[in-house]
Amino acid sequence: MGCYYTYRVPKSYNKTTPQSVFYTTLVKKMKILVATEKPFARVAVDGIRKETEAAGYELALLEKYTSKEQLLQAVSDADALIVRSDIVDNEVLEAARQLKIVVRAGAGYDNIDLAAATNHNVVVMNTPGQNSNAVAELALGLMVYAVRNFYNGTSGTELKDKTLGIHAFGNVGRNVARIAQGFGMRCLAYDAYCPAEAMTAAGVEPVASAEELYKRSDIVSLHIPATAETQNSINRALLGLMPKGGLLVNTARKEVINEAELIELMQERQDFRYVTDIMPQSDNRIRELFPDRYFSTPKKMGAQTAEANINAGIAAARQIVDFFTTGNVRFKVN
Ligand code: 3PG
Repeated sequence: MGCYYTYRVPKSYNKTTPQSVFYTTLVKKMKILVATEKPFARVAVDGIRKETEAAGYELALLEKYTSKEQLLQAVSDADALIVRSDIVDNEVLEAARQLKIVVRAGAGYDNIDLAAATNHNVVVMNTPGQNSNAVAELALGLMVYAVRNFYNGTSGTELKDKTLGIHAFGNVGRNVARIAQGFGMRCLAYDAYCPAEAMTAAGVEPVASAEELYKRSDIVSLHIPATAETQNSINRALLGLMPKGGLLVNTARKEVINEAELIELMQERQDFRYVTDIMPQSDNRIRELFPDRYFSTPKKMGAQTAEANINAGIAAARQIVDFFTTGNVRFKVN
């Protein structure tokens, strides 16, 4: 598995050269598998192929797969794996006997079991920042859609002069601030892990707590990762602090929302709206209860642009080539 016979043809080769004159070398080619249930744009796949083939590796594609079996089969002889939100758990790592590296072409790596990867001696990396503008643009798009009453023909409101609370000031949060400022919004941000100076330098007012952020923001845009600490952390107590007409925009992860408490709050407050790029577990229920105050994209669309696919996909391919050729582990997360 993973070995390929390469036939080299002697210089004097012509169609009549007998087979016995050919010599054969056994060459082990690295196999890079791109496993994407939600595929990259074709142009991004072409870019990934160019990078990996220039390095002498073989590229395999598993796109739009519908069962875990297909992934388990495809990873069995892969040396490197590029994924998006695809689940890479212990079973996948167990099946991937040759695997040395997984690169999550994107920011959040909550879909990868880091401890299991470490146990299997597999390096995990992400490609921070590569798709962040795409996600930020979608966040603003969702805001416009919501404040214009989901384009139902009635008068909505404008974003100009409204206060936007940016919950976490990483790569996406910074792009959201830049675009929101173009709309004439006032931006606040809360991020326990980001120095206040970075926010101030971007023209954003740092606030000292999540409570203060929610209390002062007409709209809150979520950019926190899904971790044990953030799971269910966006709850009724926090959301209830938002002023009348509050709008929550989620382009981060569904796991950070306490859905039961969000429903309670929306039942209590007829003014509260929720728009998300990550379909909640209780999508049907929320849609039924609040048809005029809720919207979810059918499939996560934030990073679904040709540009983001090219940036993140090619960065992933380059990181793999760099890892195999120089041992570079700059973006390792495990
Ligand atoms: C990310 O974490 O990079 C974004 O959520 C995009 O995820 P996707 O590649 O699955 O669209």
